[in-house]
Amino acid sequence: MPIVTTKEMFKKAYEGGYAVGAFNVNNMEIIQGITEGAKMENAPVILQVSAGARKYAKHVYLMKMIEAAVADTDLPIAVHLDHGPDFETCKSCIDGGFSSVMIDGSHFSFEENIALTKKVVEYAHDHGVVVEAELGRLAGVEDDVKVSAEDSSYTQPDEVEEFVTRTGCDSLAIAIGTSHGAYKFKGEAKLRFDILEEVGRRLPGFPIVLHGASSVIPEYVDMINQFGGTMPGAQGVPEDMLRKAASMAVCKINIDSDLRLAFTALVRKHFVEHPDHFDPRQYLTDARTGIREMVRHKIVDVLGCNGKA
Ligand code: G3H
Ligand code: 13P
Ligand code: ZN
Repeated sequence: MPIVTTKEMFKKAYEGGYAVGAFNVNNMEIIQGITEGAKMENAPVILQVSAGARKYAKHVYLMKMIEAAVADTDLPIAVHLDHGPDFETCKSCIDGGFSSVMIDGSHFSFEENIALTKKVVEYAHDHGVVVEAELGRLAGVEDDVKVSAEDSSYTQPDEVEEFVTRTGCDSLAIAIGTSHGAYKFKGEAKLRFDILEEVGRRLPGFPIVLHGASSVIPEYVDMINQFGGTMPGAQGVPEDMLRKAASMAVCKINIDSDLRLAFTALVRKHFVEHPDHFDPRQYLTDARTGIREMVRHKIVDVLGCNGKA
């Protein structure tokens, strides 16, 4: 099967009341862990690449490894640019074989966001590529830029129809209280499901995307704290809230921090338990297996996309 767009995936997910996982990839072990997990659960999957990932691993390496994963698993896999910062980055990813790009104009004014998104949509659609846009602004850390809680803002439902109509985007990321990173809430987790519901009502059948959707799985935070790390107060989105979002208009759930936590926790554990090891294949095997199992858990217990490939 060739690399696919998210079009068919989202249509089936919307109708089936589940979501597809969009996992950030930065190296071979992460790509293999995610796609092996998806294969075991026969699930469609979105591999997403940030500008930082392209800088770290280089576009061509990530692309070739993803092509290898597609050949190895024969799953429907979409390759997506996460948080595209400008037209040039989106164009480079479209020209370089991605099937989907996000243009993140959420920090611009409404009109500037529309103009930039429309420009990307025109180029992308001419090349058979789909576009995710964003309205509203999440708090947290992206590409080393920290957005404070004061600078974040919920999506305004009365803007979504005009935005989608005027830009022609294929999916829309909205801000309902999630944030990027491992420290999402101080105290009780709260999401604005009323906003999601209203957006869904105004855009029937249209796929919505949830960023900042790691659960910050306590098992891995505890492991990091137990094996020499320190992450006091780390807290993510409760899984029952993600399940609820997936049953509504949310078709794509973005997960990066949970991958980082699983990877790091298992490497830390490995070194404490085997202080004499220095072959990267030994500790990276643990990290890759951990990613695989975490992704299986997400697919089966949170996203509900098992068996939907
Ligand atoms: O939303 C941000 C993603 O977690 C990607 O993070 O820009 O550090 O690669 P990154
Ligand atoms: P997390 O930091 O919650 O994993 O969010 C990732 C994300 O939204 C990538 O775009
Ligand atoms: Zn994001």
